[in-house]
Amino acid sequence: MNSIIFSFPENEKMAQQLAIQINAESGELSLRKFPDGESYVRVMSDVKNKIVIIYCPLNNIDPKFLTMFFLCQTLRSLGAKKIILVSPYLSYMRQDKVFHVGEGITSSYFATLISKMVDTLVTIDPHLHRIGNLNEIYTIPTYVLNSAELISDWIKQNVDHPLIIGPDAESEQWVSKVASDSNSPYVILSKTRLGDNEVQISLPDIEKFKQHKPVLIDDIISSGGTVIKTSQELKKLGMAKPICICVHALFTPESYEKLKSSEIERIVTCNTIEHPSNEIDILELISSVILNELIKGIKN
Ligand code: R5P
Repeated sequence: MNSIIFSFPENEKMAQQLAIQINAESGELSLRKFPDGESYVRVMSDVKNKIVIIYCPLNNIDPKFLTMFFLCQTLRSLGAKKIILVSPYLSYMRQDKVFHVGEGITSSYFATLISKMVDTLVTIDPHLHRIGNLNEIYTIPTYVLNSAELISDWIKQNVDHPLIIGPDAESEQWVSKVASDSNSPYVILSKTRLGDNEVQISLPDIEKFKQHKPVLIDDIISSGGTVIKTSQELKKLGMAKPICICVHALFTPESYEKLKSSEIERIVTCNTIEHPSNEIDILELISSVILNELIKGIKN
């Protein structure tokens, strides 16, 4: 089955590497803004009867959402056989309940839109907290991949005597896996969010792990508040400066600078979102699922 990959300009390099790994064609798009700010989309490659893969991490999705919608509609009008959205980072997963009167559950509204635009979604470590499974909100087939094994491999190669630390209850799902894959002990902290940028962290008794190297693991770092606060609490207990590993480098430029000058020794991320801190490569994880399950499945 012929397959072709499209991406936005900022993700072209990753998309091209993926195209090589799965032996797909690299598609060409013409994207621009009209003088009034409206979006122009033109598909320059032939997509008729092809499996189309859109490689697009969904960080900072609001400004490009309409372009993506127009792209999907245009691909269908040109006869694409199937549209697979590969979004290593899946946005809008954290507003998964009504926290305050008057709010909506935007994770579910966003899922409804994406489910109408594409046929299949492939993603890595979505923020599953109160929603246990993507199929509770997405009506299309979804493939959820986990970076835990890649993170454990990185730890095994780079850290002696690690103590894996998860900042909150929901992190236990990936922290426990990383700890068991890397044969390390782990602890889970308790976190109360006070605002967008402010959290309160309490640590369990970790006296017996004093000689270990703390490795903080979180799925997302955004404002950096969670890991900065945790590293301050670790310092109070006389622990070494932590290494901080996260899957999705959502940082703002300010938060990354703040982290670099904090009590954190090193910041390591997966390249689900491209960022200077990327050290763990997720492309093979994605290419294996596309090759084994999606393209083969469609052939048969
Ligand atoms: C939240 O539940 C996530 O797992 C992260 O802990 C959170 O998104 C980190 O955000 P920030 O860097 O703004 O503290």
